[in-house]
Amino acid sequence: MTDTITIRRPDDWHVHLRDGELLEAVAPFTARQFARAIVMPNLKSPITTVAAAAEYRQRIVAAAGDGFTPLMTCYLTDFSEPSEIERGYRDGTWVAAKLYPANATTNSAFGVTDVRNIYPALEAMQRIGMVLCVHGEVTDPGIDIFDREAVFIERVLAPLLADFPELKIVFEHITTADAADFVIGSAANVAATITPHHLIINRSDLFAGGLRPHLYCLPVAKREAHRLAVRAAATSGSAKFFLGTDSAPHSREAKESACGCAGIFNAPFALESYLAAFDQDDALDRFEAFASLNGPAFYGLAVNPGTITLKRSAVRVPQEVAGLVSFQAGETLGWAIAD
Ligand code: NCD
Ligand code: ZN
Repeated sequence: MTDTITIRRPDDWHVHLRDGELLEAVAPFTARQFARAIVMPNLKSPITTVAAAAEYRQRIVAAAGDGFTPLMTCYLTDFSEPSEIERGYRDGTWVAAKLYPANATTNSAFGVTDVRNIYPALEAMQRIGMVLCVHGEVTDPGIDIFDREAVFIERVLAPLLADFPELKIVFEHITTADAADFVIGSAANVAATITPHHLIINRSDLFAGGLRPHLYCLPVAKREAHRLAVRAAATSGSAKFFLGTDSAPHSREAKESACGCAGIFNAPFALESYLAAFDQDDALDRFEAFASLNGPAFYGLAVNPGTITLKRSAVRVPQEVAGLVSFQAGETLGWAIAD
């Protein structure tokens, strides 16, 4: 039995670091585990300009400390200017742009109401090779929440790809067999990120013994067959799937509320959670590709120098971390980062 694993330093290809005090509280957890991270731009005042992204990056570097590189993203709106997007990409301020369908999730009110409104931006991005990160859910209230990802593929993503066949697209935090199959069946310019929680929980877990607000995120966890399909994709060894935690901290009060916020805070033990899943599926030998190699390859970035070692050892997730409730709080995980 393998008891230690050493991999290239990993990256997180989808994280919410927030701003202000919350940024200072959570950034060190991501920096402890990951060399780089794709930072989501859905602040209360979304990051839509090169100047705002550059300033936000400085605040992240100050909060995260040395040795961590934030990779910034641009929040797309109905009014996104292709020239601004291209300028920020060419000067290295951001590496990707994010499509939030308007009102799909936390802080997405300024998102895109019709994907045709960003066609000029997508044309520019396809031409310069800039990645489009996609929150893949329709917002039509007539569509059952558990079907919103699958319907997004058919209504939005497939037509978009037909119009932009070369655009690099990351289908983020996939939760369904439909999404995994779509990515597998697409060309090499379509990839997906997978969260630790979607490898571990299904929709019944949200209601196990009572309503579990800390397991509520968007896209919401789906039925067991979907979890297994997503898990098979993650551990398959395919270069199309890579690590993206979607760590999305909210205060305890905001989660434990009559109308609780969507988002799971998993940054403190993300690698440990992922590795336990790969271990259970006898896929330890595929973990490095998922965590450290496939993402850089897709983004056209170098792999990180240096390594990280994890060892088989019991680690208990505290009930509270930095005043927040972390994913798997109170549970004991089977792998720990070796210092
Ligand atoms: C995210 C957040 O809180 O910013 N919430 C979530 O449930 N994942 C937004 C998002 O990625 O959907
Ligand atoms: Zn997210």
